[in-house]
Amino acid sequence: MSGIHHMLVHFPLGFWTLASLMILVGSFSNGRLAEISREAVLPVLVLSLLAAAITIASGFLVWPVEAALSSPLARNHILTALWSLGVFVMLTILVWRAGSNAFDGVRRLVLVVLALTGMSIFATTGTIGGHLVGATTEFSEVLKLFGWDVYNTFYVPIWVVALLVLIGLMCAVAGLLSRRSNSTT
Ligand code: HEM
Repeated sequence: MSGIHHMLVHFPLGFWTLASLMILVGSFSNGRLAEISREAVLPVLVLSLLAAAITIASGFLVWPVEAALSSPLARNHILTALWSLGVFVMLTILVWRAGSNAFDGVRRLVLVVLALTGMSIFATTGTIGGHLVGATTEFSEVLKLFGWDVYNTFYVPIWVVALLVLIGLMCAVAGLLSRRSNSTT
């Protein structure tokens, strides 16, 4: 059964890579390729979410949750898989809601920052998957330079979580205020 997960992982990783590259090309270049990238990124993002949902489900169906959660490496793998999904859900909602204006002004910057963040997180997910099957790569050495050994459970102090929640709330309030001021002008 584990072969199913090994096969499925290529789909979210492929679609996430393609969507991120389309966002970068659509943001930093002009011409036909950039135009196609901007127009076609939404269906690619939607496919990536579908592929990720199936792949994550396959992980939980193939390996019992108790077994997966008892290993720091597998815990980190699940954590980064869910984070990747979260980032690409955000990107999909932003591109969908903004429609043809998704790449205008400061929105473009938000898409680029999220795409780069997503790329580094899904690369980490794949790297940890490699460690789980004994195929290690140098990418985990890069993570070590940032202070994280993938064999230890990823940990952030509670004050960092609180700060992140606060930043999220501030962004939501700023968004609501700017929407209100736009609708009154
Ligand atoms: C989008 C989500 C996910 C991606 C992209 C992903 C990616 C990967 C990759 C690239 C591998 C290495 C496979 C190979 O080299 O053939 C792997 C292995 C593995 N993944 Fe995932 N994974 C995801 C979600 C999950 C989840 C939710 C679980 C939950 C239990 C999980 C559990 C595992 C385990 C246990 C292995 C080792 C397989 C083995 O020993 O045969 N993965 N994953």
